[in-house]
Amino acid sequence: MAVSYDADLYRDARPTYPSDWYSMLAARTPCHSLAWDVGTGNGQAAIGIAEHYAQVIATDVSKTQIERAIPHPKVRYIHTPLSLEEEELVSLIGGEGSVDLVTVATAVHWFDLPSFYSVVNRILRRPGGLLAVWGYNGSISIDPTFDSLLERFKITTRPFWNPNVHYVADGYRTLPFPFEGVGLGSEGEPVSLEMHTESSFDGFVGMLRSWSAVKAAKEQGVDLLSEDVVKDFESAWGASDLIRRVTYEVFMLVGTPKSQSEFFPRARIRSSTGQGLLAAVGFHKQPALLTGSNRSSPAQFRASILVLEIQIFLQALHAAEHLILPSRRDLDLRVSVSGLQETLDSSYTNWG
Ligand SMILES: C[S@@+](CC[C@H](N)C(=O)[O-])C[C@H]1O[C@@H](n2cnc3c(N)ncnc32)[C@H](O)[C@@H]1O
Repeated sequence: MAVSYDADLYRDARPTYPSDWYSMLAARTPCHSLAWDVGTGNGQAAIGIAEHYAQVIATDVSKTQIERAIPHPKVRYIHTPLSLEEEELVSLIGGEGSVDLVTVATAVHWFDLPSFYSVVNRILRRPGGLLAVWGYNGSISIDPTFDSLLERFKITTRPFWNPNVHYVADGYRTLPFPFEGVGLGSEGEPVSLEMHTESSFDGFVGMLRSWSAVKAAKEQGVDLLSEDVVKDFESAWGASDLIRRVTYEVFMLVGTPKSQSEFFPRARIRSSTGQGLLAAVGFHKQPALLTGSNRSSPAQFRASILVLEIQIFLQALHAAEHLILPSRRDLDLRVSVSGLQETLDSSYTNWG
């Protein structure tokens, strides 16, 4: 989904997040090697996450957002255009099973969710890897007079909402989130949090200007923040030089990939090559994508004849030889293999 922000305005206007959120998330991941902050903007969340993880990869589809990102020694910012293939993205971030925490701060509603969740299922460490998404802007409060003016202003933005903004308006209650809850929200039931900032009047108006709908309106020749509107806001604020406390209602969902045993029977495979396979799980009805490697070369096979209940990914393992198979109860695969290629070929034969 194409969305664009004015990166200079965005960096100046948007808040960073409370540090205790990152402690709360970090306490729930057993390892702290790598985090991926997606739709990072200027790193509003990435710089906080970096306090808990050895490295943070922070990506965004917008080159200008990345160019204006807040530098941090542990954060590596990468521009990831929408044209990037899933395989490229997975290896750019760190490879399958490499990421301890994926965060998406007020951005997941813009994503192609099946593709994004597919990547998340591949790159998260198992067990223990977490995906945390959160959003705000649904509800902002300062005082009753200002709040009712703001509510009226929000109504004027509606004709310019991208359809995906409805997820935000719904407080992510309608956002598909096919992950196992860890006590911080689950699909349909996000947890509610509050975030407070101290803001100048100009800072607050800048924040409103940075809304995607306000930008979209401007591109269509409509200035939602005309002088008169800003004047009304200013008198409700009190005085333009006052610093006021702004409270944002935030909605958050945190989950881990669904347990493999829920979907997959296991079969043990003996492999004389010493290469093993591990299936990681996707969730969509798609042809299976099988990837792995043998000693000499990486291999990838697309089992296009199969429409499985879910998408499967295979990762190379070094010693243990487990192959986790799709939930076809009639499937009984016990193969002794001399190489990965043969494993996959014989799997196809059995499945077909
Ligand atoms: C509202 S901003 C959030 C930025 C930052 N995470 C924050 O908390 O302020 C949404 C960001 O998502 C980015 N974005 C939109 N679609 C994306 C996609 N498919 N993949 C990665 N980033 C995307 C936009 O360029 C934008 O910087």
